[in-house]
Amino acid sequence: TPLSRIRNFSIVAHIDHGKSTLADRLIQLTGTVAERDMKEQLLDAMDIERERGITIKANTVRIDYPAQDGQTYVLNLIDTPGHVDFAYEVSRSMRAVEGSLLVVDATQGVEAQTLANVYTAIEADHEIVPVLNKVDLPAAEPERVAEQIEDVIGIDASDACLISAKTGVGIPDVLEAIVQRLPAPRGGDPDAPLKAMLVDSKYDQYLGVICIVRIVDGTLKKGDRIRMMKTGGTYDVDDVGVYRPAMTAVDRLGPGEIGYLNASIKQVRDTRVGDTITHEKKQCAEPLPGFKPSVPVVFCGLFPVDTSEFEDLRDAIEKLALNDASFSFEMETSAALGFGFRCGFLGLLHLEVIRDRIEREYNIELITTAPSVIYHIFMKDGERIDLHNPADMPDPSKIGHVEEPRIKATILVPDDYLGDVLKLCQDRRGIQLDLTYAGSRAMAVYDLPLNEVVFDFYDRLKSVTKGYASFDYEMIGYREDNLVKMQVLVNDEPVDALAMMVHRDRAEMRGRAMCEKLKDLIPRHMFKIPIQAAIGGKVIARETLSALRKDVTAKCYGGDASRKKKLLEKQKAGKKKMRQFGRVEIPQEAFISALKMD
Ligand code: GTP
Repeated sequence: TPLSRIRNFSIVAHIDHGKSTLADRLIQLTGTVAERDMKEQLLDAMDIERERGITIKANTVRIDYPAQDGQTYVLNLIDTPGHVDFAYEVSRSMRAVEGSLLVVDATQGVEAQTLANVYTAIEADHEIVPVLNKVDLPAAEPERVAEQIEDVIGIDASDACLISAKTGVGIPDVLEAIVQRLPAPRGGDPDAPLKAMLVDSKYDQYLGVICIVRIVDGTLKKGDRIRMMKTGGTYDVDDVGVYRPAMTAVDRLGPGEIGYLNASIKQVRDTRVGDTITHEKKQCAEPLPGFKPSVPVVFCGLFPVDTSEFEDLRDAIEKLALNDASFSFEMETSAALGFGFRCGFLGLLHLEVIRDRIEREYNIELITTAPSVIYHIFMKDGERIDLHNPADMPDPSKIGHVEEPRIKATILVPDDYLGDVLKLCQDRRGIQLDLTYAGSRAMAVYDLPLNEVVFDFYDRLKSVTKGYASFDYEMIGYREDNLVKMQVLVNDEPVDALAMMVHRDRAEMRGRAMCEKLKDLIPRHMFKIPIQAAIGGKVIARETLSALRKDVTAKCYGGDASRKKKLLEKQKAGKKKMRQFGRVEIPQEAFISALKMD
């Protein structure tokens, strides 16, 4: 296909504004899939994605579109992940295409992820076609939203497409706009040495690793020997093809084209999104610019509830890691929880997805310790330690200073809830950078410590704004602050899984809250249990759980034997979920609940 008849594009949107529904419509209208094969949300393949309605991994589809000018165009859609955790993947996918459809729900308007994603598209030099979706709904206000797009984003929205992805209204206009308003791929010499971007890779049960590639220069064919320029791996190409959306082999992929290659690569870990692929024999002079591996920023411990399941957990984690290069793990032992793994994730959603998959697909019940970030510990002797786990905090007397990662958070919220949002950010040690208004919505930009956000910031934000706020963030770097490790002692035994890094000024408050919560969460025993929070050797908060006097079965008066048996059995089942700390048993839920802040 000549470059002039190729259009490569992505769709950017806030979650739920209708990206997947629009993609399905485009595929359907161009007859790319027979009507009977049409499943809702074709592009969201993974079950978890389907269930949660979120797009995690980028997917691609090739559409043949006979345009009004009589020519047939090849449209390549790359679907991008919609969530902040996968921002790096979004930015890579966008570099592989020349234009974007900006989908905005005409009943909602611009949201935080609309902004984040559209800025990524602008940075990638995209031509952008605004699309106002859900005009079938009575609450749709396309004029107001078009104005808002101009005010807030600063792009012309006067010729936005007005559509309903649900009913199909306006879809033909979108297809024409793609052809007429988005540019053809730039440059591209078919005879130059191969230069292709690895846009994404995923694991296929039968075929092994499949790489999605965008050809910049040169030609990729079956039988070629290729080299990944950053990782250095070399492979023989078994197959090249395109998604229609079913995998369809083709002879070759040339400049401007997007497709897949299959080269018997064993694991996704061997590939790096953003890497440059070239021929082993005739290499291109320079890799594509801007490669950066995505690195985990949020860490937590995963331990099996049933300690005999440790090997099963190892197996599950290793299998998941084969397919996810951005997920890291190493073995960890905790005095309290036994053997488990310290795992690193791109963000909280990523953590949740992995944890869910272990529990559901591998059927292993887990205890998850408090998510933490990487602290830079500068020792007095000049050494820098990257602390992934508060339990490994070195002796405070040897520490010079501690730095923590900070983020720039953008929050969009209706005026009515602004006060609560500002208070929440203030409570989490936020520094206001900007506050602006667009219509009845406010946009607050904050500099916040990542560690104050990783645990339950989304949940709190959702609850104080009744779900009306949207949130996005980017890392801005490390800054020094007065950070200390807080220990929790139950019956004078330190519980390592509850150790956390806190700001010194907030330590007493956090310690008190933690002790009060634990007092409610730990069942009473036959003896009195002190619950303490301490920094170094100094106790900063304390509660006492009084002793239990009566036997649980006492209230059965010894009469009903079967009832008594049932009660004892229930207790036994409950025990499985308990952890023994010295003489004290702590239920599993206590670990997570205790760390939530109200
Ligand atoms: P993520 O995959 O989470 O990024 O969401 P998305 O942007 O892909 O949204 P999706 O296509 O899943 O649509 C979200 C919801 O809006 C679904 O319940 C759709 O049925 C509904 N929806 C999408 N387009 C329209 C539309 O034009 N009109 C109406 N009434 N509902 C729509």
